[in-house]
Amino acid sequence: DWTMGAYKDDAIEKIRQQVGDKKVICGLSGGVDSSVAAVLIHEAIGDQLTCVFVDHGLMRLNEADEVVSMFRDNYNIPLIHADESELFLGELDGQSDPETKRKIIGRLFIDVFQKHANEIEGAEFLAQGTLYPDVIESVSFSGGPSVTIKSHHNVGGLPEKMGLKLVEPLRELFKDEVRALGRELGLPESFIGRHPFPGPGLAIRCPGEITRDKLEILRKADAVYIDQIRKHGLYDEIWQAFVAILPVRTVGVMGDGRTYDYACALRAVTSVDGMTADYYPFSHEFLSETATRIINEVEGINRVTYDITSKPPGTIEWE
Ligand code: XMP
Repeated sequence: DWTMGAYKDDAIEKIRQQVGDKKVICGLSGGVDSSVAAVLIHEAIGDQLTCVFVDHGLMRLNEADEVVSMFRDNYNIPLIHADESELFLGELDGQSDPETKRKIIGRLFIDVFQKHANEIEGAEFLAQGTLYPDVIESVSFSGGPSVTIKSHHNVGGLPEKMGLKLVEPLRELFKDEVRALGRELGLPESFIGRHPFPGPGLAIRCPGEITRDKLEILRKADAVYIDQIRKHGLYDEIWQAFVAILPVRTVGVMGDGRTYDYACALRAVTSVDGMTADYYPFSHEFLSETATRIINEVEGINRVTYDITSKPPGTIEWE
């Protein structure tokens, strides 16, 4: 894409001018945005960039390993893998209120990020994969007051606290443009096309209390669901798809036995920017095949539901 090629060269030049010979830290989440930002900045300034990946233990199946191997082995980008799952899951233990959970994760994230960033001596810049729509954090209802729906987890406030200057090379871009830029930078298609994944990770797909048990069940169910979507060639038609594990167990029957296991909800939406969304109209065949596979393959789930709420009035995530 000619336009994106020119944009890329321009962005690289701007990064070089802003940063000079100073060091940059970039928080890597495993998502498309921070990955594209990191690869772009690495192309501009090479090993002046160090990435910090805070692993909160709320990633999907195999996801943390994939992030580490892609950046460290594939791109040779200096990367600190901060495995802090014990800390996060410990502090989240027993917490069930959505905003409390989000705030705990946001606070710990900043602490941990700061701790590891301090190990990078002489860093003067903090890079973020902030997109244009990210700037909008609260929704104003017509005639009503401005209301914060969910406190978004990002490193807001961190740059000042750490005395770092911000590098935000994606600030003018929408999601589809970031993907085009990622292609231009040669990131693998399988990675670029990935659905968005929220900063607080599986915590907000596990309404109520988070336990390791539930997380493990959720990871397995989510992997089966995504596998189904890919097999049916639907992945690219969908903005975001995931499983939420519900904080309720229900009675079922398997063979000649009674089961008492968790219920889960499948979510899949189409959207342009995540601000509004429609549920995806799967066929009944797809839904029943997926439900059967999840119940057969994932121990701990005996009931599958499909969430048909649009946004608004629902949000995409459950918390
Ligand atoms: P909601 O659930 O508000 O989500 O409809 C809209 C989009 O934003 C993602 N999301 C987040 N992304 N940090 C993020 O980086 C967050 O705290 C967060 N909360 C929601 C969500 O996955 C969807 O794509």
